[in-house]
Amino acid sequence: MRQPLVAGNWKMNGSLASVRDLLAGLKAGIGDVKVAEVAVCPPAVFIPEVQAQLDGTPIAWGGQDLSVHESGAYTGEIAGSMLTDFGCKYVIIGHSERRTYHGETDELVAEKFTAARKSGLVPLFCIGETQEERESGVTEEVVARQIDAVIKHCGVDMLGEGVIAYEPVWAIGTGLTASPEQAQDVHAFIRQRVSESSADVADKLRILYGGSMKPGNAAELLAKPDIDGGLIGGAALKAEDFLGICTAAN
Ligand code: G3H
Repeated sequence: MRQPLVAGNWKMNGSLASVRDLLAGLKAGIGDVKVAEVAVCPPAVFIPEVQAQLDGTPIAWGGQDLSVHESGAYTGEIAGSMLTDFGCKYVIIGHSERRTYHGETDELVAEKFTAARKSGLVPLFCIGETQEERESGVTEEVVARQIDAVIKHCGVDMLGEGVIAYEPVWAIGTGLTASPEQAQDVHAFIRQRVSESSADVADKLRILYGGSMKPGNAAELLAKPDIDGGLIGGAALKAEDFLGICTAAN
């Protein structure tokens, strides 16, 4: 059985004051979450505060990105070991916003996957097609290419040490959600693709859905057999909404 994971990606949002409020709300409500594992990925500067507040609670935390390098003259970058120093369990890699605004390629994302594992972090590896790609009928081709790059670089066993997040780019922050059937179809394809390298890894691999997931649509998405949780953006910024998604897996 794959335990569902609901992870919040706070992106570049919040202030120290709002982060404290959000964490207080999460701590107050986490007792209602019976089944899902829960994690939050704040902007890096807030990680020490998140650690101070969440240490000893069931909520894990992680980074939103990491460098492929271990240390050195890489201004602005954050090494995996720095994230683990502050208790991070997870790190998001290959988010479409990194791919689009920072030119991250499939190969760089695969290198980041390795860097994360070297530091003992669990990668939340994001894949997904743009609207144009979906309309051109190449969704499966795109996600296969993104997965294959990691399998080629890291091997399928290492892929199995991470979590995949399928995020159709057209559904991110747009209010447009993939229908549960649309999402399930792609999740099943992803699992099938991984099973071509290892049926065992494919069977155990958690595949999260991301893209305008909210308390109102979470239960239907999470009920699908190949949807093992969610990577939540906007709705992760309000404790009530985020916990509403987490409890939808109860
Ligand atoms: O990482 C999270 C996703 O990009 C989803 O964002 O829930 O605001 O659509 P969203």
